[in-house]
Order: sequence, then structure tokens, then C-alpha cells
Amino acid sequence: MDAAATSPYAGRRCGVTGAGGALGRALLRSLLEAGADPVALRHGQAALSLELDDGSSQPIETVAWAVGEEEALAPVLAGLDVLVINHGINPLGARDAEALRRSLEVNTLSALRLFELMLALPPRPGRPREVWVNTSEAEVSPAFSPLYEISKRTLGELVSLRSLDADGSCTVRRLVLGPFRSELNPYGVMRAEGVARAVLHQAAAGRRLVIVTPNPLTWLLMPAVEAARQLYYRAVTRRRDP
Ligand SMILES: NC(=O)c1ccc[n+]([C@@H]2O[C@H](COP(=O)([O-])OP(=O)(O)OC[C@H]3O[C@@H](n4cnc5c(N)ncnc54)[C@H](OP(=O)(O)O)[C@@H]3O)[C@@H](O)[C@H]2O)c1
Repeated sequence: MDAAATSPYAGRRCGVTGAGGALGRALLRSLLEAGADPVALRHGQAALSLELDDGSSQPIETVAWAVGEEEALAPVLAGLDVLVINHGINPLGARDAEALRRSLEVNTLSALRLFELMLALPPRPGRPREVWVNTSEAEVSPAFSPLYEISKRTLGELVSLRSLDADGSCTVRRLVLGPFRSELNPYGVMRAEGVARAVLHQAAAGRRLVIVTPNPLTWLLMPAVEAARQLYYRAVTRRRDP
């Protein structure tokens, strides 16, 4: 059957950050195939076009943004049904102060600011928005890049904590992905296209924890870690009174 006829994302406006990267492009293609209305969010001015299977090129609506200027995206985010927070950098073996600052700023803080902007949008009864946050299986296992692991694990922990306030107004999904080939990881064993298809499939099936990896430890550890975090955070924190 035609994917666009059955996908819950058909007709929905879906923005993806890090749109020009390997997974960003693959996600936008999968969303396009699912009948969604994809929007590329890029940290430069270059408009994005996707190569389609028939060799043609499909221009994608592109919005420029910059780390540190997330607030300027608020009107764009308000018009989205789904935001996929996907941008990221990998400082590999670096451990200097500048690499630390950049990793936290790009991978953690800018992602968190976009996440908070989505949570702050007014609820839309009957049509809840979604925010997907691409952390990594580096949340629970080594990626041979300590600053990458720390910045992604911190993002994951903060998303677990803040998701407690999302209720039904915004559906939060976490993407926990294993290694796929890209500029960020030239040695990845999976292909971004296959990863994107699996992500969309699991999201369409309603999974909040979207795991795509050949590593069995991630399948065991990540749900347990997430459940433990939620229990602990619920026990020792409370919602701020309005
Ligand atoms: N590759 C893997 O093995 C792997 C595994 C697990 C998770 N991930 C995660 O998946 C996401 C996508 O990674 P990828 O492998 O597709 O990497 P990629 O091809 O390097 O794409 C990352 C994209 O992020 C954007 N970006 C880079 N620097 C930025 C900055 N300073 N400010 C804002 N945006 C910036 C760029 O897109 P624009 O130029 O379009 O803005 C870039 O193309 C990342 O969050 C990564 O951590 C990757």
C-alpha cells in the first residue's frame, strides 16, 4: 500500500534540524515519501534539495537558523506539527576547553532550547505536536568520544526530566541510534536511509523510545535507564505551580 496513504505523518508539517547531514536528508526523504510536508532547518543559508530515486531533485522549504538564536525560530516552530532535533557535532578525541564549550552548546544547550520552545507552545486539542530528540546510544555506551558522550547523555537526562511536564500537549520521542555512516561518523556500520526508515516506522507505531542499533546492550540498557530516570525524577521533583 502507498506509504503516504497510511502514515500518521501524511499531511503534517515536519521540521528537521541538521537537515543537510546524512540523517537529516534521509529523514526528510522518508517524511516526503510518507506524504508529510518537510521543512529543512539549516545552520546556514543554503537551500536544500533532495535527490529522489528517479534521479530528479526535489527542492525542500528551507529555514536558516543559528545556535544561540533559537528564539528567532519560535514563529516557525509554532507552525510545525513535528520538530526533529537532529543537529549535532562530534569532537572525537578532543578534550580542550573550546571543544567542551562547543559540544555542550551545539549538542546539549541549543537542542534543549528548541525542545523548550516546543513544550511552551499552546496545546492543540486533538492534534498534539511532537518533538523528536536525537540523542544517541552514546547515552548508555561508549562512542570513543567522551565530550560527545557527555553532551548527548546530558541532553538525554534533561529531556527525560523535562518530558515529565509535556503531558498530552506535546508527544516527546527519543531517537537512540547506533553508528551509521555520515560526516560525523565515517565508520558507521548502518546506512542513514535505513535508519531513517526504521525511525519513521517506530514513530508511526507510537514508540516514544525509538531505538535503531545492532547493539543488543542498547536495547537492554536504554529502556531500563529511562525507566529508572523517570521513577527517580518523579519521586524527587514536582511540577512548578502555574
Ligand atoms: N552518525 C552516527 O553514527 C550517529 C549515531 C547516533 C546518533 N547520531 C546523531 O544523529 C544526528 C545527525 O548526525 P549525522 O551522522 O547525520 O551527522 P552529519 O551528517 O554530520 O549531520 C549533522 C548536521 O548537523 C548540522 N550542524 C553541524 N554543525 C552545526 C552547528 N554548529 N550548529 C547547528 N547545526 C550544525 C549540519 O546540518 P545543516 O548544515 O543542515 O545545519 C550537519 O550536516 C546527530 O545529532 C548525531 O549526534 C549520529
